[in-house]
Amino acid sequence: MTTTVRTRVAIVGAGPAGLILSHLLADAGIESIVVDSRSREQIESTIRAGILEQNTADLLRAIDPDTRVDTVGHRHDGIELHFGGEGHRIDFPALVGRSVWLYPQHEVLKDLLALRLGAAQDLRLGVTVEGVEDDGSGHPAVLALDADGSPLRIEADFVVGADGSRSVVRPFVTGSRGGGYFREYPFAWFGILCEAPPSSDELIYSNSEHGFALISQRSPDVQRMYFQCDPATDPATLGDAEIWEALQVRVPGTTLTEGPIIQRDVLRFRSFVAHELRRDRVALVGDAAHTVPPTGAKGMNLAIADVVLLADALRALLVSGDERLIDGYAERALDRIWKAQHYSWWMTSMLHVALDASDFDRRRQLGELHSVVSSESGRAYLAEGYTGWPLPVG
Ligand code: PHB
Repeated sequence: MTTTVRTRVAIVGAGPAGLILSHLLADAGIESIVVDSRSREQIESTIRAGILEQNTADLLRAIDPDTRVDTVGHRHDGIELHFGGEGHRIDFPALVGRSVWLYPQHEVLKDLLALRLGAAQDLRLGVTVEGVEDDGSGHPAVLALDADGSPLRIEADFVVGADGSRSVVRPFVTGSRGGGYFREYPFAWFGILCEAPPSSDELIYSNSEHGFALISQRSPDVQRMYFQCDPATDPATLGDAEIWEALQVRVPGTTLTEGPIIQRDVLRFRSFVAHELRRDRVALVGDAAHTVPPTGAKGMNLAIADVVLLADALRALLVSGDERLIDGYAERALDRIWKAQHYSWWMTSMLHVALDASDFDRRRQLGELHSVVSSESGRAYLAEGYTGWPLPVG
């Protein structure tokens, strides 16, 4: 027996994009159902990105009076670019009048889930979406299996795929599972979480002859660090001593405070943009629509920028019957998506060392880094992208 439910917007995916969209819609009086195949524990324990652009932090404060972005999170007024044996600080407020917040994605998710559950809004976890159906009648449906395995049909006025890079909604929109512009990189990051105090007050992005490293943070007692590795690396094959050695040689001049390594993973780098972001009354946001390499810290922020645009468009469509913004959604979202693709590619290619880099390539890259840090315009360009371009409005 299939259970059929009705809502105005069916949102597939309870990540930052899906949950923020549900809150923006609720503020506009538009009811939604959010579904996700994962459990609350799985969602809250997935370790992902950590940097929020200033606009993203502002949006969280506007949505959620109890957000912990300013208590558990920390404002960062700069980063250090390290290369050629020297550190160069990029001072965000001095250059662009903005900052970023280090507030890990799983903490953002804890806040957003608590807010949705606290408001008794419809959130269904453990629900596996199998597909989307749209007969052009203006009432698309999500076909799913409920947590107990029984068929569930969610009929809506609009369906949003916020279900990540392995999106089940995407094939419906693009017509194929891939369906996008795609680029792979010959790099990956070996990431660790370790129990130790911070090794530096600010994030260090280091380009060294041994490759790239990023020294980031999670909390006063847990740190996140990455070093460039071969994408084929199996995270289980490196011992703790080898990992610390690999990190330490990539950040000359900084002594890393070591501690027990509590998690390790290898992150492959990809760039992807779906060929289509919308088909009729079904749209994609976040990683379902695009993926960026992590060097520019753009992933979650870009997802949230999509959602701000889509929330405006859905408000116009579902409250006033005005289709203009939804018709322009893909074009407006793509404007920022391609800027972010470029920024992420630029930071990645400027800071990583390709295995087959020639002496010319290496010296050219150092020339590029010098040209960025020695010019106020260069530093401002980096800071502007890192702290985030203004969010689109109405
Ligand atoms: C992180 O803390 O995980 C992090 C920070 C900055 C990045 C990427 C990842 O560019």
